[in-house]
Amino acid sequence: MITVENLTKEFKINKKYPGFKGAIKSFFSREYTVTKAVDDISFTINKGEIVGYIGANGAGKSTTIKMMTGILTPTAGTVTVNGRVPYENRQINARDIGVVFGQKTQLWWDLPLSETFTLLKDIYEVPDEEYKKQMTFLSEVLELNDFMLQPVRTLSLGQRMRGDLAAALIHNPKVIYLDEPTIGLDVVVKENVRKAIKKINEVYGTTIILTTHDLMDIEELSSRIIIIDRGRMLYDGNLEHIKETFGSQAEIELITKEVIQLEKLSMASQLERKGCAVTAEENRLNIKYNKNQLSSTEILKDVMGTLDVTDFKIKEVSIEDIVKRIYRNEV
Ligand SMILES: Nc1ncnc2c1ncn2[C@@H]1O[C@H](COP(=O)(O)OP(=O)(O)OP(=O)(O)O)[C@@H](O)[C@H]1O
Ligand SMILES: [Mg+2]
Repeated sequence: MITVENLTKEFKINKKYPGFKGAIKSFFSREYTVTKAVDDISFTINKGEIVGYIGANGAGKSTTIKMMTGILTPTAGTVTVNGRVPYENRQINARDIGVVFGQKTQLWWDLPLSETFTLLKDIYEVPDEEYKKQMTFLSEVLELNDFMLQPVRTLSLGQRMRGDLAAALIHNPKVIYLDEPTIGLDVVVKENVRKAIKKINEVYGTTIILTTHDLMDIEELSSRIIIIDRGRMLYDGNLEHIKETFGSQAEIELITKEVIQLEKLSMASQLERKGCAVTAEENRLNIKYNKNQLSSTEILKDVMGTLDVTDFKIKEVSIEDIVKRIYRNEV
């Protein structure tokens, strides 16, 4: 369905010099810096899959999506979606895809939502019957009826996002690209948007590519994630695997009465020999360990035998932490 091969995108940015003289110098200068926003990425996505495309700010997620939708042309490599190259067939390709950029609405600001939809119906040449059916479905799953007749500029963020989703789906595309579809939404609306996305995928078998900074989106929607960092692919696989592989990391934090002098503690080096990472700051001791190799009681026994502990807590590593560490190249 979607094949991405050795995809690369470089941006050339003209060097800017400060001040008025600098502005003139910049204008005539041919010096530029090159950013590799996407660097040699390959993957395939099958029909009906929901894939989470994640990475830190500036990792290259939106740039990848823009190449998959045909907005940008790659510097190197290829994308094919439904057997077509999106940036070569933008018009035809548009009929097969739906796009939502959570940061930027694609709705007409001054028109009521309902009119935006009829305009899109004409643009995509959706037959009357199909349009009616799709509108009924969308207004139900996205609960659009309360604000259908309001101009888009008067909508709340959550209403606007639901409107944007509906607009991207009027022509019932085979693929939808959702770039941060839950950004800025409250917990309840987020949940509704997720449910709607899931429903659309179930009912139509729509292929969905989703970028997000909210890992709850991923946990609820997709079993497969692709992680990118500084343009490069770090991981492509299922979420469960990440949890199994890296979720065995746990952490204990202890507060002691006295300031800790780590280098004088033989217990610390003992724990390190057992595979723990031990750090201390004033009267706070932090121990990272592998749950499969060591139990928390064992560690606590060791520590409490040597130090006067006043408080402690055991932290399970969340999927969020794991991904953060993957970003930072710690795993
Ligand atoms: N039009 C452009 N011109 C120059 N540089 C760009 C352009 N678009 C993106 N970049 C750069 O490419 C890199 C990747 O940007 P991109 O928007 O793809 O990141 P992202 O993963 O979507 O980040 P975020 O999570 O913040 O949305 C960044 O360093 C960005 O500054
Ligand atoms: Mg982005």
